[in-house]
Amino acid sequence: MKATRQDRSKATNHAKPHYFICSCLLFFFAFALGMVSNPYLQSHHESCKPFKTSLNFSLPAPEPVSLMHNMSEEELLWRASFAPKISHVLSSRVQKIAFLFLTRGDLPLAPFWEEFFKGHDGLYSIYVHPDPAYNGLIPRNSVFFGRRIPSKPARWGQINVIEAERRLIANALLDSSNERFVLLSESCIPLYNFSMIYTYLVNSNLSYVGSFHDTSPGCLGRYNPAMAPQITAEKWHKASQWFEINRALAVEIVSDEKYLSLFQKFCLISWKPPCFSDEHYIPTFMAAISWRSNSNRSVTYTKWSSGQAHPASFGKHDVIPELFEKIRYSENCTYNGVNTKVCVLFARKFLPDSLDLLMKLGPDLKIFKQTNDSIYHRDA
Ligand SMILES: *[C@@H]1O[C@H](CO)[C@@H](O)[C@H](O)[C@H]1NC(C)=O
Ligand SMILES: *[C@@H]1O[C@H](CO)[C@@H](O)[C@H](O)[C@H]1NC(C)=O
Ligand SMILES: *[C@@H]1O[C@H](CO)[C@@H](O)[C@H](O)[C@H]1NC(C)=O
Ligand SMILES: *[C@@H]1O[C@H](CO)[C@@H](O)[C@H](O)[C@H]1NC(C)=O
Ligand SMILES: *[C@@H]1O[C@H](CO)[C@@H](O)[C@H](O)[C@H]1NC(C)=O
Ligand SMILES: *[C@@H]1O[C@H](CO)[C@@H](O)[C@H](O)[C@H]1NC(C)=O
Ligand SMILES: *[C@@H]1O[C@H](CO)[C@@H](O)[C@H](O)[C@H]1NC(C)=O
Repeated sequence: MKATRQDRSKATNHAKPHYFICSCLLFFFAFALGMVSNPYLQSHHESCKPFKTSLNFSLPAPEPVSLMHNMSEEELLWRASFAPKISHVLSSRVQKIAFLFLTRGDLPLAPFWEEFFKGHDGLYSIYVHPDPAYNGLIPRNSVFFGRRIPSKPARWGQINVIEAERRLIANALLDSSNERFVLLSESCIPLYNFSMIYTYLVNSNLSYVGSFHDTSPGCLGRYNPAMAPQITAEKWHKASQWFEINRALAVEIVSDEKYLSLFQKFCLISWKPPCFSDEHYIPTFMAAISWRSNSNRSVTYTKWSSGQAHPASFGKHDVIPELFEKIRYSENCTYNGVNTKVCVLFARKFLPDSLDLLMKLGPDLKIFKQTNDSIYHRDA
């Protein structure tokens, strides 16, 4: 593991001369074949970049692997840390969103997600990290079928939640067409239809990781000075764990050993006061490496009531159109430099008993179309 970064730059340098010669050779052939009339090629010909796909010379990109692979944790993270940082230049031009589900067991809201994904094959990939003891069956025709990744126990507030998140990101990085990565749980729902969410995320050059710093007991009060000098008190940040990140940041996160090992030693839930690494690791890591392209806000809505350790949940009595009006436009923010009220794209925590009403409301809320196989009629 120690050699990851060095190996990466070594391998990259080694591959460069070949790649350059071959890219340009192919460009020459393409030119000769008259492909130059294609506007896409024209606009990119100077860099020779689009040819990388059609050539089998490439960076040490990982071989495709089955989702239930046999790789050790070390090998998985090692391979993912080599993954190209930009998808649409290196591989197919279609960019996908990776939906990373960190779950305990069942996905009670799966029917709602099924309708959301319907008709958008090829624009998304799903990864599910349940508790390893979970042995529920997923129907063959489900979008979740075969999307389970090798998992380890992850417990609320513990460092193993971060490890599970890194495992999800690493698995998704192995598919080089995944460009955006969103972390979700079994209680999350999308607030808009697929096209809307896809457009919003793929056209953004920022990641959506909440991040703030203050001196309260709930923030700086959890900082352990033993983390200095690598993590100073000023770098200590806090956020909700529900991130949405781009590929470049995903590669950074799976490549990190330095900061994670400090969290593994000095941010433990068993301490007094407890330190919850899932609320601090990613925002603090980003501050420590001075990662700039972040919006500092999350696209996942959570309703917090003051003084509570857990957020509010929505059940069958709460799911009414007004709730969605309220949640969807709950904030003011900027998107690509423009002021907007569309700041959150997902919401939690929805209880299993909210499913029936969600299915009825889905078409009215334009989250999906009314379809024959999910006929739910509103009573009144
Ligand atoms: C690249 O290699 C793969 C597997 O080795 C092969 O299936 C594919 O057709 C090759 N692509 C090109 C453009 O030669
Ligand atoms: C995992 O390894 C075992 C034993 O080495 C092998 O039987 C199995 O086919 C492998 N599974 C995958 C998905 O590679
Ligand atoms: C992101 O895009 C906006 C608008 O296109 C631009 O002003 C900004 O500089 C970009 N930010 C980064 C980090 O590229
Ligand atoms: C997010 O916070 C960082 C660090 O404080 C800052 O550099 C960056 O400009 C902020 N991003 C936006 C979009 O405000
Ligand atoms: C958003 O801004 C509008 C005015 O532009 C204001 O009326 C509204 O209260 C703001 N909403 C929130 C949640 O701050
Ligand atoms: C998707 O949502 C957007 C924004 O709510 C809406 O304008 C659009 O009509 C919806 N598309 C479909 C196919 O429902
Ligand atoms: C499915 O819906 C379409 C259009 O709403 C309708 O024409 C068709 O008869 C329906 N099929 C079944 C099996 O209900």
